[in-house]
Amino acid sequence: MPTIKILNVGNLRPEDRVVEVEAGKPLMWALWEKGVPIRHNCGGNAKCTTCRVVVHEGEVPEMNPAEKERLEASKLRNVRLSCQLPVLGDMRIDIINLLTYEEMDEWKAEGR
Ligand code: FES
Repeated sequence: MPTIKILNVGNLRPEDRVVEVEAGKPLMWALWEKGVPIRHNCGGNAKCTTCRVVVHEGEVPEMNPAEKERLEASKLRNVRLSCQLPVLGDMRIDIINLLTYEEMDEWKAEGR
């Protein structure tokens, strides 16, 4: 299983700073399922950019059209939308927007 190392740890618990995730899943959902409180206001539909990450190391595919269009429209550079980015292998990343753990619990209770 690929290992994701989060460099800008913010309010992350120590056990959430390096996580093993399922290959092939969108990075955002892979992290969320492991308990990493990554913000994703649009629910993973390439509409909001809140899930964006900086990839410092790791193999990443070309952007799909939805990701490319959203990032260009938002004039964001050097970031990727983690909801559109499949995990291909180990990565070292910064997460730009983290929820608190309390907010994550609320989102999960709401089915987000
Ligand atoms: S969750 Fe909204 S763009 Fe990724």
